[in-house]
Amino acid sequence: MDELVTRKLLLQSLESLARAGVDQLQRGVPLGVLPAPAATAARPDSPAASMPLPSPPAATADRPMPTRLAAPTPPPFEPRLAVPATSDLEPVMAKKSAAKSAACASLDDLKAEVAGCKLCKELARTRKQTVFGIGNPQPRVVIFGEAPGADEDRTGEPFVGRAGQLLTKIIEACGWKREEVYILNVLKCRPPDNRTPVEEEIENCRPFFERQIELLAPEYIVCVGTVPSQALLRTKEPVGRLRGRFHEYNGRSVLVTYHPSYLLRNPSAKKFVWDDMQMLLKKMGIEPPKSK
Ligand code: URA
Repeated sequence: MDELVTRKLLLQSLESLARAGVDQLQRGVPLGVLPAPAATAARPDSPAASMPLPSPPAATADRPMPTRLAAPTPPPFEPRLAVPATSDLEPVMAKKSAAKSAACASLDDLKAEVAGCKLCKELARTRKQTVFGIGNPQPRVVIFGEAPGADEDRTGEPFVGRAGQLLTKIIEACGWKREEVYILNVLKCRPPDNRTPVEEEIENCRPFFERQIELLAPEYIVCVGTVPSQALLRTKEPVGRLRGRFHEYNGRSVLVTYHPSYLLRNPSAKKFVWDDMQMLLKKMGIEPPKSK
């Protein structure tokens, strides 16, 4: 393969890993094909087995891949500055839209605002519809994802594709039904080709997701992946360093974990997500359900 193409593919792989929250890699393992590590079976009483979650990795630390690459490590994920959108952005419109969102007294009002939003010209032009959020309007827990993909753009519901099906399994492994929690994304429109949201898009959507969370008033927010974690907590820290403890957002407890689409490519990381969810259940005073 031509060297330029190889470099491009490598960069794409690194960016996709960083986006999913990975900041460390196993030495000598080709990207995208990280094998399941040596089995040290999941506890038999853990729903991890029925999720189905893989055997936990040999590593005992709370990092999935303890060895940093000797070669340059992938840089921490930073939302790219929108190149073409800058000239499109109209700060006055953005301010007006933010004020309207803040004034929305109900989720239905906010949903209507979102549906009419055209702040991100490219997204407004390419989306089939906006994807607001779904679930219990008075939830204890909300799950906060990145942005709709093709399936979500088509159906109008977040997390309905393959990653969504895995998310549903994770929710059910906690002993909940999907309808008991509320699921929303940072972006309400699908970025073309599922590219990473750019900073301006995140900021255009910020008044929407912030007001949405205020109206939902959950006790707990579970951020899955880099984009929602960094957007909500206003940090550049990677998921690997944010997970394993609780954060605070407007008086609510925030848990950071890996994105389900990362788990689809790296099933061995499910162990870490299950550890995170158990930490959440414990804090909520819920006994993790036993496997059937
Ligand atoms: N990934 C997300 O982050 N959100 C969705 O709605 C679907 C996939």
